[in-house]
Amino acid sequence: SSQQQRKLRQPIVVVLGHVDHGKTTLLDKIRGTTVALKEPGAITQHVGASVVPASVIEKLAEPLKKFLPRFKLIIPGLLFIDTPGHEVFSNLRRRGGSVADFAILVVDIMEGFQPQTYEAIEILRQRRVPFLVAANKIDRIPGWKPHPDQPFLISYRMQKPEVQQRLEELLWNIIGEMYKLGFRADRFDRIKDFTKTVAVVPVSAKTGEGIPELLAVLAGLTQQYLQKRLMYAEGPAKGVVLELREQPGLGVVADVIIYDGILRKGDIIVTGGLEGPVITRVRSLLMPKPLVEIRTAKRELESVDEVVAAAGVRIVAPELEKAVAGAPIFVARDEEEAKELAKKVMEEIEAIRIRTDKEGVIVKADTLGTLEALVEALKKRGIPIRVADVGPIAKRDVIEAVASKQINKYYGVIIGFNVKVLPEAEEEARKHGIKLFVHNIIYKLIEDFEKWYKEQIE
Ligand code: GTP
Ligand code: MG
Repeated sequence: SSQQQRKLRQPIVVVLGHVDHGKTTLLDKIRGTTVALKEPGAITQHVGASVVPASVIEKLAEPLKKFLPRFKLIIPGLLFIDTPGHEVFSNLRRRGGSVADFAILVVDIMEGFQPQTYEAIEILRQRRVPFLVAANKIDRIPGWKPHPDQPFLISYRMQKPEVQQRLEELLWNIIGEMYKLGFRADRFDRIKDFTKTVAVVPVSAKTGEGIPELLAVLAGLTQQYLQKRLMYAEGPAKGVVLELREQPGLGVVADVIIYDGILRKGDIIVTGGLEGPVITRVRSLLMPKPLVEIRTAKRELESVDEVVAAAGVRIVAPELEKAVAGAPIFVARDEEEAKELAKKVMEEIEAIRIRTDKEGVIVKADTLGTLEALVEALKKRGIPIRVADVGPIAKRDVIEAVASKQINKYYGVIIGFNVKVLPEAEEEARKHGIKLFVHNIIYKLIEDFEKWYKEQIE
C-alpha cells in the first residue's frame, strides 16, 4: 500500500530571533559540536541548510538519561535552515502555513524580548509553526561558571545559589512575556504537557552548554507530535523557492527547500512568477561538496543526480528568472500534469496579490513570502488594502495611492517591505504628497503607519 511506502523525513527547523541574540552562533555551535564528535557522516551540508543526523543527537543526549525520559529516535535527523532571518522564514511559505515544521526562537536572556522577537512570534503564530525558546547567552549571567558542551542541567547544578537565582529571574522575564502574548511557557524540565506549554531551554551558543537538551527537546517534540507531517512519499517532489540568485555562467538559479518526495535531474518542474507559470526541466541539481573541515566559508557546489526530502538544493534550469521567491515548486510526471500544477501554482500566487479600486493602502514587498506576511499583518489590524504586489515602489504605485487618497486621505500611502523606491516614484510621491513607509521589519512598518494615521486624524 501507499502507506508502506511512506517514510519519516527530517523535521525542517528554522532559527528566528532579534538581531545579535545569537542565531548564527547557535547554528555554528550545533554544527561544530557535531563535527567534533567525529561520527562518520556526522553532518551533511545542504544549500541553505544542514542536517544533524539522529546518531549524533542520541550521542549528545547520552548524559541526559538521568534527567529526561529515554527516547528512541525514529526521525533520521534534523534539518536546520542556515540563513536565519524573517525574510527567509517568510519565504518558507506553504498554502495556509509554513514549510518549516518547527522553529527555535532565540532570545538573549540578558536582554529579553526585543522588537524582532515579537515580530518572530507574530509570524510563527500566523503560519502556525510550533516552536521552543532558546534562552541564549547564559554564560553572561554574572558569576556563571562555564562547563563547555555540558547539558544545562549538569552545569546548572554546579552554579552558586545566587547565580541559579539570577537565572531563574531572567527566565521568569521570558516566561512572563510569553504569558502576555497568550502562551504558556516554562523551563523545559518542568513541563508536563508539551502540547500546552512552550519549552524554554537555557543555552549558551558560545560555550555549548544546553545544546544537548536543545537537540533532545527538538527531536523529541518533532517526532512525537509531527509524525504525520513528517511522512513523505517516494513520489514527485514538492517544495518552495527560498531564493533566486544570479549565478555567473548559469543564469538565474533557485535555492529551494524540498519537503516531500524526490527531485531528479531532468525532472519537469513547475513554479510561478508574477507574469505567469514557469514550466521547465531541471538541468542540474547542485549540493555542497562534503568537506572534512566545516568552517570553510565558501564550499564548492557539485552536481548530484537526485535529492530526497527534506533537502535544500540549488536548481539550475532555464526560465527561472521568471519565478518569484516564496512560490511553490512541484515536479510533474508529464506535460499534462505540468499544466494542472501550473494552474494550482498560479492560483496560490494570485491569492496573495491584491488589485482593487477601493480605498486602502498600497503594499509592496520584495518576495511573495514577505508580501503574504505583511498583508496578513495589515488585515489583522483592520487596515484596508487597495493594491498588494511584489516589486520595487514604482510610479504606478504612486498613481494608485493618489486614487486611494481621493476616496480616503488616510489610506493614500505606500507601505514597502524591503523594497527600493524607484527615482520617478519618489518624485511623483513628493509632487502629490504621498507618504511612503519603507522598512525591513514588518512590525516597525505597521507601528510607523499607525502612529502617522493617529497623528493625522487628531
Ligand atoms: P543577526 O544575524 O545579525 O541577526 O545576529 P545573530 O542572532 O545571528 O547573532 P550572532 O550569532 O551573530 O551573535 C551576535 C553576537 O553575540 C556575537 O558577537 C556572538 O559572539 C555573541 N554571542 C552569541 N551567542 C552567545 C552566547 O551564548 N554567549 C555570549 N557570551 N555571546 C554570544
Ligand atoms: Mg546571524
